[in-house]
Amino acid sequence: MIEKIHGSSDPSEWIKEKLQSIIYPVKSAIDIASGAGRHSLLLSELCSSVTAVDRNPDLSSFFENTSVEFLCLDLEQEDWPLVGYTFDLVLVSNYLYRPNLRKIFDLVGPDGFLIYETFGVGNELFGKPSNPNFLLRPSELRDSVGDEFLIMDEFFGEIAEPQRSVRGRLFGRRVGP
Ligand SMILES: C[S@@+](CC[C@H](N)C(=O)[O-])C[C@H]1O[C@@H](n2cnc3c(N)ncnc32)[C@H](O)[C@@H]1O
Repeated sequence: MIEKIHGSSDPSEWIKEKLQSIIYPVKSAIDIASGAGRHSLLLSELCSSVTAVDRNPDLSSFFENTSVEFLCLDLEQEDWPLVGYTFDLVLVSNYLYRPNLRKIFDLVGPDGFLIYETFGVGNELFGKPSNPNFLLRPSELRDSVGDEFLIMDEFFGEIAEPQRSVRGRLFGRRVGP
């Protein structure tokens, strides 16, 4: 079931590495489009309050008996459902909805962290996603966060593991308003 929902039950090695590099206290975190929560559970080892958001209500069962709060929300509706919320850490993995990208960045509170990893343009050579709407362009994340974030790590290119694909990654910390 987990395999079917997000392709791999193992958390991303890059995301694991970035989480392990954080030496500051992180109280609250949100996992955007969490799927079955392979990263939400990692976050709960680091943060006292973890929220997982996904539009698929069937996923709630994966969060039973965990400390993660699951919210079933559609993040692509015109009325942004998380207005006014901020978190110490915002994590996005394998999800892109360009019209609300800035709104996701706005969820990062003062001094908070952003960890973003998803597929990039060129991935269509290897499989899905192949729709350009779901593929990051090179430096799109950097350009979108602008000077509000200190960029601590970024990558755009082909990777071989866990599957041959093109990935875009950004690890940043909010420095601006
Ligand atoms: C490829 S999965 C990634 C899951 C998880 N982030 C991971 O990396 O394992 C994409 C997820 O986005 C969710 N999703 C798609 N559209 C959404 C929307 N409009 N609002 C909230 N979640 C959405 C899907 O339900 C699915 O769980």
